[in-house]
Amino acid sequence: MRTVYVNGEYIAEDQAKVSIFDRGFLMGDGIYEVTSVLDGKLIDFEGHAIRLQRSMSELDMQSPIEMDDLLEVHRELVRLNGVDEGMIYLQITRGAPDDRDFVYPDPETTKPTIVLFTQNKPGLADSPMSKTGMKVISIADQRWARRDIKTVQLLYPSMAKMAAKAAGKDDAWMVEDGAVTEGSSNNAYIVKGNTIITRHLGNEILHGITRAAVLRFAREAQMNVEERSFTIEEAQKADEAFITSASTFVMPVVEIDDAPIGAGTPGPVVARLREIYLEEMRKAAI
Ligand code: PDD
Repeated sequence: MRTVYVNGEYIAEDQAKVSIFDRGFLMGDGIYEVTSVLDGKLIDFEGHAIRLQRSMSELDMQSPIEMDDLLEVHRELVRLNGVDEGMIYLQITRGAPDDRDFVYPDPETTKPTIVLFTQNKPGLADSPMSKTGMKVISIADQRWARRDIKTVQLLYPSMAKMAAKAAGKDDAWMVEDGAVTEGSSNNAYIVKGNTIITRHLGNEILHGITRAAVLRFAREAQMNVEERSFTIEEAQKADEAFITSASTFVMPVVEIDDAPIGAGTPGPVVARLREIYLEEMRKAAI
């Protein structure tokens, strides 16, 4: 049984409680972060903490915790649960007012809810899919327009994932106005020669923490980086394709809408990027 963190307390997972009036439950009025753990250490904690603060500020939410304390909570949960490889999920909501109301509650009387729990995933860095690659379908991007805020409104991404599963594939790349935005829970990339292409930042996609690190490492390794839109047709003709996220790192994509990418097997550029990412991030883990 896991020990989880709820509003200042470390508690057994079956004892943890949140009110039925919590705005995360009633309104999807909450934000989250997922930070990976390798060798019992946090990967890119600072990046996640900075994005968390931005998500809160975009939604006029008060932080229930200082960032230094947040680091300690992450570390303590890793320790208490003996996590060597896995993830830490963090969620903050606008809290539980006395009743349901569309108007935000007064932050003086309604304190935010904060919950963290660990997800133990032995073998995360050595996952079989990193060797075989994943197959994706395309699907219309029907999410709300502020995808740069990491909210818990994840119904459409769940629907996209279920559509992929129903088609016998691994994930879905979402398409808006003819261009790929991102994967259901990851950023999307294609590779042409020595060039990495991924959608430019904006409100249309989440500004991935893994994305920022991978693009930095790609530039350092003398690869070209183009931050621009691309279509499914362009992706199908690319040499390689991949996704990034805190839970998959750099993961090859070998098929898009039934069309094999390159040879239909993971290629050398993606393998190299994954290797550099894991090596550098392990070194910098805290
Ligand atoms: N998802 N885009 C979307 C829509 C995401 O949900 C995520 C992360 C990313 C990648 O961001 P990062 O590199 O910071 O993890 C991009 C997390 C892992 C999740 O929902 O589980």
